Amino acid sequence: MKDNEVYQAAEIIKRGGIVAFPTETVYGLGADAFNPLAVARIFEVKKRPYFDPLIVHVATPADVKKLVKEIPSNAKKLIESFWPGPLTVVLLKEEEIPDIVTAGLPTLAIRMPSHPMALSLIKASQCPIAAPSANPFGYLSPTTAEHVREQLGDQVDLILDGGPCPVGVESSIISFLEERPRLLRPGGVSLEEIESLIGKVETNPIEEGRPSAPGMLPKHYAPRTPIVLDWNKKNLDLLEDKNIGLLAFQEPKNYLKFQSIEVLSKKGDIREAAANLFAAIRRLDALDLDLILAEPIPEVGLGRAIMDRLRRASGNIEVNGDKNIG
Ligand code: TXA
Ligand code: MG
Repeated sequence: MKDNEVYQAAEIIKRGGIVAFPTETVYGLGADAFNPLAVARIFEVKKRPYFDPLIVHVATPADVKKLVKEIPSNAKKLIESFWPGPLTVVLLKEEEIPDIVTAGLPTLAIRMPSHPMALSLIKASQCPIAAPSANPFGYLSPTTAEHVREQLGDQVDLILDGGPCPVGVESSIISFLEERPRLLRPGGVSLEEIESLIGKVETNPIEEGRPSAPGMLPKHYAPRTPIVLDWNKKNLDLLEDKNIGLLAFQEPKNYLKFQSIEVLSKKGDIREAAANLFAAIRRLDALDLDLILAEPIPEVGLGRAIMDRLRRASGNIEVNGDKNIG
């Protein structure tokens, strides 16, 4: 049954259509990377600015060679260890890759996902698949087929349902264009894992006129409801008459009446918290709350990716007397 669906999805990709599909990180919205018109539809459906390049997904590490000029040895090491999996490498691209995929950059972001359905789809489509996360630009990434259906349902040609995404945050993006590798986005492979293999990497995004990855815009991955990360018990009385949701890491102490509480991992497991993150924020976002307060997560392992997404989702609003957070 599922095989049939994957086959059907591959036919759609070959004919220049767009398909939402599961990966181990989040759901992607894919098209044939060599078909500029099909890729353009992804931008239209997502309302994504054309300056924001896409990640190209391949089915084997060998496919990278055809798409980039060279693979530095550190990139090779990471590919050997973490593919298939939630790691994207940015390398100098080959000429043939359409400009719309890379937003005119001379570089290409590539990864080989580990989700079996994603791999089957890429193989059956017989082309690399360009795919951003399958959400409207700026909103949270989808981690279930239902999330995609709710937001993009009638605009995509097919949605493959592979169940909830086991990792739950997007891939780590690491660029090899400078002398020292640079982590552009923390994600499913932790900084510790990366550095244990290739040594120290830069972690500050490059400051330029445009962001090197718009997932790095200060406000991104955001729900409609304001998220506040920087708060404490003392300044909560400012919020007495508000409807507030709590995004808790572990079981919360009940010091305020919250309208609703989402616990990311009862046992305090950061991987479990990452897997639950976007779905939990979506559930809170559906409740028409005035505010979502998020508890900080320890910034180790995937905690770094979680805090990165929470900071961007919050746009760095604080609970204090000066700012209107209603
Ligand atoms: O886990 C993931 O990476 C998911 C799944 C679907 O694979 N994809 C994903 O794609 O998160 P997207 O488009 O939502 O985020 C990709 C990020 C964007 O912030 C984009 O700017 C950056 O990758 N990016 C793409 N190509 C780039 C390049 N050549 N140089 C620097 N950043 C790049
Ligand atoms: Mg995205």
